[in-house]
Amino acid sequence: MAMYTKKVMQHFLKPRNVGRIANADGVGKAGNPVCGDVLMLYIKVGKRKKKAKSKSNVEEYNVEEYIKDIKFETLGCAAAIAVSSMLTEMVKGKTLEEAKKISNKDIVKALGGLPQHKLHCSLLGQQALMKAIEDYERKKKKQKIKKQKVKIKSRKANEKQKANER
Ligand code: FES
Repeated sequence: MAMYTKKVMQHFLKPRNVGRIANADGVGKAGNPVCGDVLMLYIKVGKRKKKAKSKSNVEEYNVEEYIKDIKFETLGCAAAIAVSSMLTEMVKGKTLEEAKKISNKDIVKALGGLPQHKLHCSLLGQQALMKAIEDYERKKKKQKIKKQKVKIKSRKANEKQKANER
């Protein structure tokens, strides 16, 4: 296994954030049909206040969404496990926008490199992360539409009741 860097070996032998998150906000799965390796990524999204840029002296805040927790299950080679572990460490605490910008090259760089024939393993991590974020955003959109429908329904019911009272 001398072909791997010390960092890769550390993450392979002692992977961080292994497991699954019950009721995850987003789940992403990526696989490679050639080697058969599969990576499942689970994310929990939190909200926190962020100081907004303001021209006035009054302090203003925005709410930003960030990756509060992340776990993975990988059925694959040493490089795929090291990539998954490193990715979870890189992503935890980042905003969704920051996380989306992480490329497979960033993961490889953080691991101190991967052998040429193992570079495709880094793609699994990046793809699973994108899918998990997309899954979260899709669910959020669905919930928003559902809430809007409930609002419209209750407004119509109110209007109907008022009309009956007249
Ligand atoms: S050999 Fe295919 S992901 Fe590692």
